[in-house]
Amino acid sequence: MTIRRLPETVINRIAAGEVVERPASVVKELVENAIDAGATHIDVVVRDGGQTLMSVADDGCGMTVDDLSLAIERHATSKLPDDDLLTINSLGFRGEALPSIGAVARLSITSRAEPADQAWTISVDGGDITPPHPAALGSGTRVEVRDLFFATPARLKFLKTPKTEQTHAVDIIKRLAMAHPDIGFSLGDGNRDLIKLPAVSGSMDGADPLLQRLSAIMGRDFHDNAMTIEAQREDAVLTGYAGLPTLNRGNAQMQFLFVNGRPVRDKLLYGALRGAYREFLASDRYPLVALFLDLPSDAVDVNVHPAKAEVRFRDAGLVRGLIVGALKRALAEAGHRASTTVAGAALGAIRPGGVTRSFGGGGGGGTYGSTGMREHAENFHSPLPGLDTRPSAPDVAMDEESPGDYPLGVARGQIHETYIIAQTEDGIVIVDQHAAHERLVQERIKKALDTGGVQRQGMLIPEVVELEEGAVLRLVERADELAELGLVIEAFGDGAVVVRETPALLGETDIKGLVRDLADDFAQWDEGLALTQKLGDVCATMACHGSVRAGRRLNGPEMNALLREMEATPHSGQCSHGRPTYVELKLADIEKLFGRR
Ligand SMILES: Nc1ncnc2c1ncn2[C@@H]1O[C@H](COP(=O)(O)OP(=O)(O)OP(=O)(O)O)[C@@H](O)[C@H]1O
Ligand SMILES: [Mg+2]
Repeated sequence: MTIRRLPETVINRIAAGEVVERPASVVKELVENAIDAGATHIDVVVRDGGQTLMSVADDGCGMTVDDLSLAIERHATSKLPDDDLLTINSLGFRGEALPSIGAVARLSITSRAEPADQAWTISVDGGDITPPHPAALGSGTRVEVRDLFFATPARLKFLKTPKTEQTHAVDIIKRLAMAHPDIGFSLGDGNRDLIKLPAVSGSMDGADPLLQRLSAIMGRDFHDNAMTIEAQREDAVLTGYAGLPTLNRGNAQMQFLFVNGRPVRDKLLYGALRGAYREFLASDRYPLVALFLDLPSDAVDVNVHPAKAEVRFRDAGLVRGLIVGALKRALAEAGHRASTTVAGAALGAIRPGGVTRSFGGGGGGGTYGSTGMREHAENFHSPLPGLDTRPSAPDVAMDEESPGDYPLGVARGQIHETYIIAQTEDGIVIVDQHAAHERLVQERIKKALDTGGVQRQGMLIPEVVELEEGAVLRLVERADELAELGLVIEAFGDGAVVVRETPALLGETDIKGLVRDLADDFAQWDEGLALTQKLGDVCATMACHGSVRAGRRLNGPEMNALLREMEATPHSGQCSHGRPTYVELKLADIEKLFGRR
């Protein structure tokens, strides 16, 4: 066989194989071109999931007739003025998208650059070029792509249903729109609007345009439950919004990440997110976030993925540290603030014929500045109640206090031996005593570790726990680490361990359950991992078995002590699985339930 040079059309089809995976890839390339062209409005149509027609019209700078001819040539770009791949400030830079699309579909581009008195159209049909001819267009550029993959039938077979392909197109427009609140976007399917996002400017009622755009896309709940993220390490800057853990989903679809304005799906970034939320969410739950990482262009290589969906960082450790640090700080500052969706859902459930949400603005459940509250509560800091039968709360006079003194109010009763009902200045708080206590124990273990170790409590009669051989091995391997956390175990013949001491702050513990659950936990973790790296999970498991379980009766002082400790404890608004520990219903909303307002 002899070696030959491939014809241009074949080269372009090969390139298209990487760049144009599905209709949404075309939408992405065309909309990115419109953004690079300085458009303020971008209108997209995607018919039949994009297979029959995709069109993108913008009011950007447009192209001259000479530019039009160049634009469809391979490796022709206006975006790399000095051949420097290290300083890329535009979304495009390869000069590959248009020729690739033209090689596998019917592409036509109509454009007018401002001083020109005339628009021009050029078209490429599966690689066959029709030279520019005059056309009618006010200004900007309109690109139409018909019959995608007609020239590469093999690819056609991989298209999913129009509905699925449309969903992908919607997703990419949403992502690009998040990064550009100042640009108006619309997306239609030929009959109706799927997305309509007017440009948001800074001046409107002082609200952050980014948050306005995000809530238009991610929903009002995100708006009400988002923490502002702003952090910097060296030249890397992280901004955006991250949801409270109680606002979570079963998949990562509501996690939007951007690097230098580019939507990315980057493993490193997702990993950092998981790391930051680990202690607050079960591993199969995902927080909602929209985070924007900006770095000097030479600190990140965007030329590592055909669709530019992944990037490579010069200093991955710095990026991870920035993200984890910023999110953890925000989570700590959010304190015990729980998601308003929880209160909203609760109200919806009890309202007769339950309908609309009644929480306007950022109000709603549990939104207190935690710092002031923590200081306030410090005076009433008391031992963790309910761990033994000792009278546990010294502040017996609490019942006479006014509810206005405490953010979580004064306990008025316990119902179903599971929930504490407290009266606040302007509402009521319902606490899930088990979830709350679990979180408090967890925070206590962490604090004890930081300040010299967890106190242990010897057992009068050591408890023998029978387990399968593998579980025994896993536990014994980690015996030293467990001892640091207050749990002293030893191997006990074949297939059992003996527990000699337990963490004092767990009080009466369901030891068998705890030991078995820890063994299960360990089975899922890497062997090399130190327990301290999984501290959140270990604490959660311990707390879960030592808590004031649902079903335990609490007296008044015990309940109030629990409320006061919640106020004083960071992260007490949700248990370690992301469930809320309490909900608050405002009097105003309760009044609405009864038609008083
Ligand atoms: N909507 C538009 N408005 C104005 N100019 C455009 C538009 N779309 C494309 N162009 C011009 O055509 C050129 C080629 O576009 P193309 O998308 O093929 O490559 P690119 O954007 O430069 O790089 P990449 O392949 O990375 O997207 C661009 O560099 C730009 O000058
Ligand atoms: Mg481009």
